[in-house]
Amino acid sequence: MTDRELAELAYSMLSRSYVPYSKFPVGAALLCADGTVFTGCNVENSAFGSTICAERTALVKAVSEGHRDDFVKLAVVGNSTDFCWPCGACRQMLYEFAPGLEVIVGNKDKELTVLRLTDLLPHGFGPKGMD
Ligand code: THU
Repeated sequence: MTDRELAELAYSMLSRSYVPYSKFPVGAALLCADGTVFTGCNVENSAFGSTICAERTALVKAVSEGHRDDFVKLAVVGNSTDFCWPCGACRQMLYEFAPGLEVIVGNKDKELTVLRLTDLLPHGFGPKGMD
């Protein structure tokens, strides 16, 4: 699957976002080595801190379905002028399972930028840090 195809799946998730508070929809799509894609959107809550981001939705869907060490790339997109950079909490959650993950970020014009999770979270703390 190309970066563009994965990003389009993420864009298709914007309409599923539940964002009555921020009005800022985010979509995500996580590709596994066997070709399975887990999608996600942000789901907000009136207790704001209970909100879950789009990419964490996709990640927990994948892990709960038995995927753990086979993540290839992730697309995260939003309706913003700037690219929709993953928040710090999402970078940390993703780092646990896939430090080398390829991350594709997109903006409202469907421009894409591709980089590694290690570029977004250098010297991250992960399972190996507990050896
Ligand atoms: N959001 C995400 O879904 N992913 C990110 O990495 C950045 C932030 C969501 C959370 C909240 O619903 C809205 O964007 C505004 O912060």
